[in-house]
Amino acid sequence: MAEAEIGVIGLGVMGANLALNIADNGYHVAVYNRTAARTEEFAAAAGDLSDRVTACATLEDFVAAIRPPRPVIIMVKAGEPVDQQIAALKPLLAANDIIIDAGNANFRDTMRRFTELEGSGLTFIGMGVSGGEEGARRGPSIMVGGKEEAWRRVEPVLTAISAKYQGEPCAAWLGENGAGHFVKTIHNGIEYADMQMIAEVYGVMRDHLSMDAPTMAAVFSAWSTGPLDSYLIDITAEVLSVQDAATGRPIVDMIVDAAGQKGTGRWSVIESQMMGVPATAIEAAVAARSLSAMRAQRAQAEKLLGLPRQQDRRDDQQVVDDLGKALLAGKVAAYAQGFAVMAAASQEFGWNLPMATIARIWRAGCIIRSRFLDEIATAFTENPDVPNLALTPAFSGLLAETDMGLRRIVAEAALNGLPVPALASALGYFDTYRRGRGTANLIQAQRDFFGAHGFERLDAQGEHHGPWGGQS
Ligand code: 6PG
Repeated sequence: MAEAEIGVIGLGVMGANLALNIADNGYHVAVYNRTAARTEEFAAAAGDLSDRVTACATLEDFVAAIRPPRPVIIMVKAGEPVDQQIAALKPLLAANDIIIDAGNANFRDTMRRFTELEGSGLTFIGMGVSGGEEGARRGPSIMVGGKEEAWRRVEPVLTAISAKYQGEPCAAWLGENGAGHFVKTIHNGIEYADMQMIAEVYGVMRDHLSMDAPTMAAVFSAWSTGPLDSYLIDITAEVLSVQDAATGRPIVDMIVDAAGQKGTGRWSVIESQMMGVPATAIEAAVAARSLSAMRAQRAQAEKLLGLPRQQDRRDDQQVVDDLGKALLAGKVAAYAQGFAVMAAASQEFGWNLPMATIARIWRAGCIIRSRFLDEIATAFTENPDVPNLALTPAFSGLLAETDMGLRRIVAEAALNGLPVPALASALGYFDTYRRGRGTANLIQAQRDFFGAHGFERLDAQGEHHGPWGGQS
């Protein structure tokens, strides 16, 4: 008998936890995994929730176990496996069934899948889910793209399983087709920037102030009670305080300094570049991960080029205070850039992305959840059409308070050869953005000189050319 109200395909860490979360919220869920052994293992571990879980050995059984119209969540590796799964499901499903891709899809693939499923009678949803393993189990942030009518049909279950911020569900419909996956991509781009800036601050503490991990942990803990209060600062404090059982040293000291990446950060940068919207802090963070992976080359370069001699340093407490300010100012840049990219995409793809809602559903459940996002939600509610977060009264005020701290840290890091590419890019971004008279007049002159591209004059209308000795 078809008693399940929803199905989940893919019982990896995220899919399994999402399925348990659904059952925990009173819904009957059918589950299926390509390797049947995993399905059995999942069913055996479902414990008290077993009554609300139907574990299926075949895709046919899985479809038959769900009451039509069937919502089916696919949580498999992004890319080709999603297409294969949709192809396998399509002949088994009936009109009005909803396929929900909950993986970290490239939104361009999501757009293609919408087109491919058009006319099939099936409904498609591209859904960004953030929060990692714990989020999936206890309440993630959920970003939905597709037809609003399709969202309405799954809204009860998705809001039930989502994280709550002061009782408000962190799940929302954000726009048609690829909107949900695009917003999730930018969430991850911002996540990259947040993480990189925290790592840069850690680097200054470790390599400039010679602080050990437990001392740094105490600083991060203190920060997590103030305006920097966020999940990423919390876990940083925790990570820094954990000892390695084998060596008795802080575990962070034993971990290789090369970070992986699965693509969402890079996609954020690619899309921002395609739309001509600068996202320099995100870009610097993605590049820093790539540089981190060039470990052998870095070791060789250090041998050959050496490190700059350390300069006299200021009082440690002053530097630590400035690091906190630098992180806040850097965050303003990363979020201002991420939201500006979303605003441009909203125009380009006709999504009408609700910026305040996006900030609201990021306040809990997701990896970048923070107090800061509540302030962003308020800023966008009060200034819905502002072109840049930095122009809102709250964030221009925050920048005024933190700007000098960022400036001093970037200067000090530069003088001591400490890499702070994301923080430096944030500073460069603001210093360029805030200057009414920039330097592109010279670039225009150069372009006109070598390519007769023409320029505008401050004192006359129309296109002009320079008197470049007959070359233009
Ligand atoms: C989240 C995370 C999640 C995952 C990323 C990590 O929001 O829950 O962002 O999506 O951890 O895929 O991405 P990288 O492997 O590229 O760091």
